[in-house]
Amino acid sequence: MAREKILIIDFGSQYNQLIARKVRELNVFCEILPPDFPVESIDPAEIKGIILSGGPASVYSKAAPRCDERIFSLGIPIMGICYGMQLMSKMLGGDVAKSHQREYGRAPLTVTDHKLLFKDVPKASVSWMSHGDKVRRMPKGFIRIARSPNTSIAAFADFKRNFFGVQFHPEVAHTQAGKTIIRNFVRLVCRCRGDWSMKSFINETVADIRAAAGPDRVILGLSGGVDSSVAAVLINKAIGRRLVCIFVDNGLLRKDEGKAVKELFQKHFKLNLHCIDASKEFLNNLSGVIEPEKKRKIIGRTFIKVFDREAKSIGRVKYLAQGTLYPDLIESRSVFGGPSATIKTHHNVGGLPKKMNLKLIEPLKYLFKDEVRKVGRELDMPPDVLGRHPFPGPGLAVRILGEVTKERCDILREVDDRFISTLKRENLYDKIWQAFAVLLPVKSVGVMGDERTYENVVAIRAVTSVDGMTADWARIPYDILGKISNRIINEVKGVNRVAYDISSKPPSTIEWE
Ligand code: XMP
Repeated sequence: MAREKILIIDFGSQYNQLIARKVRELNVFCEILPPDFPVESIDPAEIKGIILSGGPASVYSKAAPRCDERIFSLGIPIMGICYGMQLMSKMLGGDVAKSHQREYGRAPLTVTDHKLLFKDVPKASVSWMSHGDKVRRMPKGFIRIARSPNTSIAAFADFKRNFFGVQFHPEVAHTQAGKTIIRNFVRLVCRCRGDWSMKSFINETVADIRAAAGPDRVILGLSGGVDSSVAAVLINKAIGRRLVCIFVDNGLLRKDEGKAVKELFQKHFKLNLHCIDASKEFLNNLSGVIEPEKKRKIIGRTFIKVFDREAKSIGRVKYLAQGTLYPDLIESRSVFGGPSATIKTHHNVGGLPKKMNLKLIEPLKYLFKDEVRKVGRELDMPPDVLGRHPFPGPGLAVRILGEVTKERCDILREVDDRFISTLKRENLYDKIWQAFAVLLPVKSVGVMGDERTYENVVAIRAVTSVDGMTADWARIPYDILGKISNRIINEVKGVNRVAYDISSKPPSTIEWE
């Protein structure tokens, strides 16, 4: 049976990933493509429908993105959303009214035709609008199927060709009938079966990896984080010991991290895992360095060197596997850049594939984070690995303000351990997006027993967030903050003061450096 797929053509709306999420919740695979994708690259037999997304442009502006008009003659159902509807109207011979004023927010929607797209949608409901232009005259063959006070053609349809357009955003939670509308498009109009699941994803991906890698070896840098861990277990399922995982201990890891990685991946999952203790090399290179970006560069360069050295010792390798996720892929090729594009550049320990001349295998590149976790669960990976907070590549180096030394790493490891274990004990860990401790380059006066002390100050940071782009400080109850502070000061030698970071991002960042 052919795989079924919905294509989403990306005209730059901030809601595009939401469309993809909604389609996938219906167990239908979908892919987001840029407007200029070559039509001949798709297999019409597997494409059940196309969604033209919203976007910030006006169809009249010079830079307005367009798609290949051949998509309208493939015999595949199409739904245009907002800009997508206007573009469809313009390309098929309708007329779009130029407007200088945006309509933004909730708008009452009145459905005038309940067939197919609006089946089971109430006559009156609330929709979410965000547009300047609107359709003034429909292309030939279309009829109006909904209106709103400000937009007389709030939705249109050509029932013969199965083309639909909606001026509002069905993918946004504020559109009351949004879910029903997307389900109707996917199920009733496109007739998707909805049999895509994490199990089927795993089976297909395992077959794809086997076919791609053939008899060759694949290497993967395993960090112990969710993405590289799931990628490793998945690829191991496909090619077993031909996957060589490299775990680099850079001396900047959390307490017992290396031990846990060996235990789980070498002993339990039986991965072909090479663990390299390069902590001395990293700490040597970092000696005397204070400036955060310099630390990052040194760590990135050292990582590439260590990894490269180990890869060469393995013998012939053709592929490099990475745990790239879908949002990274979409953002990195987005025509409009997106705010994250610049913020994230320093986050990748980049340069590996280019330098080593390896082909990439990225088995998770079409998945969102929560889908990766589902794949992990399906592969019987333990919940504490799948639910792990993000941890930056440069590790504790960007959480030790000032010079990074082994002694300071050891202090911070203990502090972090007391903080995180208390959050887990109090059932707060899973409610927080990321939590960690920071070692400050100042000392403070304290008293312990009858003694005056002059010791380190640490800050603890816990944030709530959806994607790390924005974040708020977590409202941890005072009594739990008290417990955390007591444990740290009583149990970690060299620390006599704990401060809680109450800044949000923006204007602060999550990490201190
Ligand atoms: P910021 O501090 O920029 O962090 O608000 C946002 C998210 O990115 C992580 N982060 C990094 N991850 N290398 C990484 O792999 C880095 O250099 C880096 N800097 C920040 C940070 O932990 C948070 O999750």
